[in-house]
Amino acid sequence: MSKQDCVLAIDQGTTSTRSIIFDKNAVELAGARKEFPQLYPRSSWVEHNPEDIWSDVLATSQEALEKIGGADRIAAIGITNQRETIVVWDRATGKPIYNAIVWQDRRTAQLCQKLREEGYETVVRERTGLLLDPYFSATKLAWLLDNVNDARTRAEKGELAFGTIDSFILWRLTGGKVHATDITNASRTLLFNIHTQEWDEELLRKFRIPAAILPEVKDNSTIFGETIPSLYGRAIPVAGMAGDQQAALVGQTCLSPGMAKATYGTGCFVLLNTGEKPVSSKNRMLTTIGYRVNNKTTYALEGSIFVAGAAIKWLRDGLNLITHASQTDDMATRIPHSHGVYMVPGFVGLGAPHWDPDARGLICGLTLDATAAHIARAALESVAYQTLDLISAMTQDGAGTTETLRIDGGMAANDWFCQFLADMLQVKVEKPKNIETTALGAGFLAGLATGVWSTPKDLIAEWQSGSQFQPQMSNEQRSSMVAGWHQAIRRTLTQN
Ligand code: G3P
Repeated sequence: MSKQDCVLAIDQGTTSTRSIIFDKNAVELAGARKEFPQLYPRSSWVEHNPEDIWSDVLATSQEALEKIGGADRIAAIGITNQRETIVVWDRATGKPIYNAIVWQDRRTAQLCQKLREEGYETVVRERTGLLLDPYFSATKLAWLLDNVNDARTRAEKGELAFGTIDSFILWRLTGGKVHATDITNASRTLLFNIHTQEWDEELLRKFRIPAAILPEVKDNSTIFGETIPSLYGRAIPVAGMAGDQQAALVGQTCLSPGMAKATYGTGCFVLLNTGEKPVSSKNRMLTTIGYRVNNKTTYALEGSIFVAGAAIKWLRDGLNLITHASQTDDMATRIPHSHGVYMVPGFVGLGAPHWDPDARGLICGLTLDATAAHIARAALESVAYQTLDLISAMTQDGAGTTETLRIDGGMAANDWFCQFLADMLQVKVEKPKNIETTALGAGFLAGLATGVWSTPKDLIAEWQSGSQFQPQMSNEQRSSMVAGWHQAIRRTLTQN
């Protein structure tokens, strides 16, 4: 057998699943990707079929492995995933009892509102670092247990298993032997106490979740289990798991306090490493676990925007304005300015810092000479403006101003967007050579546990800068554009 010097990373995102193989120098050797259907059974509901997810995990990982001639060189598998999305399955058959309820789903907005009115948000914030918003897992799980036949009774009897997507994939890869999650995914459920680092009994009571349904919580870089040999021709250890945003933090090697990254996938998530201490925000940012390796916990402050790449996907699939996301670069470059056109992409409510689940999308400032290019440009600009709002809130929190923002994800491929982002943030924006940083982070975590890399310092040595963007816009121009954005946001909000 040849030397096991590579890792296979499975990145299960909101709209697509990717499997990528990295070698010891963090070079991508092969990969495969599949988009899968989004299900919208009712207004503001978003679901996935877990079997679609599983078949794409299998198909993409097997295709990537075939490209390098099989699994011989794979030392370990890392899993990273869309966070907060829940699956509940039957422990006996491994079959889900309902579709996955996706993080973007707003069906529990009223329940969250009720709990807020009861004054429960303070307890939630103190223990989980999160807020009472339908974004997180707990209320979705409560809804599922209340609305699927017999689910609650069966859950109490220990017949059902709950997991975020990492957990479900791990269960399937190990042939139903392991029911576990990692600490970053657990920290997004609203059920996990980020200080004691245990499932919180009071929160379980409050959200009416039976403990028997929960997975075991582990470090991010550890042996979770082994794949059943029939999948890849031999048993391979699954040795790294993390929620996709935390995996990107690791993949960007933001491993020291003060370092920050923004990942532009379906949504955009800015994570700032705050070191060993959890920092609580006065501006409705989230306190979350960055990673736990060798039992040592690193915390992060997070700003979450629900729609980033999803706005570009909407231009393609909803409006048929473009056929490929890359066209937006040209469209935005072609016009000299935005012409006062703004888009607020509140398709699934607004996340940080507004947390308004009932807000909806808006395009404003249209005149007869506005064109498709203006709308495309407004979509790109909206993502930069939202990032600015997050960074400003973090700065106001005194969490340290970042001099450089490392970015990754699909939109980082758009140079016009990167420059506009640098202009708005007035900081250097830097992207790595390979913008698939989320997958790389999962690979790093798996490789750290299995000797492909020995220490986090080895990871830092592998990070390679791609390009950098310095702010260029005048203050005057920037201020007037930002003022227009804030006006558009005010028109969108439903709360105060
Ligand atoms: O919290 C949701 C997030 O994990 C989704 O990530 O990459 O699918 O936008 P992404």
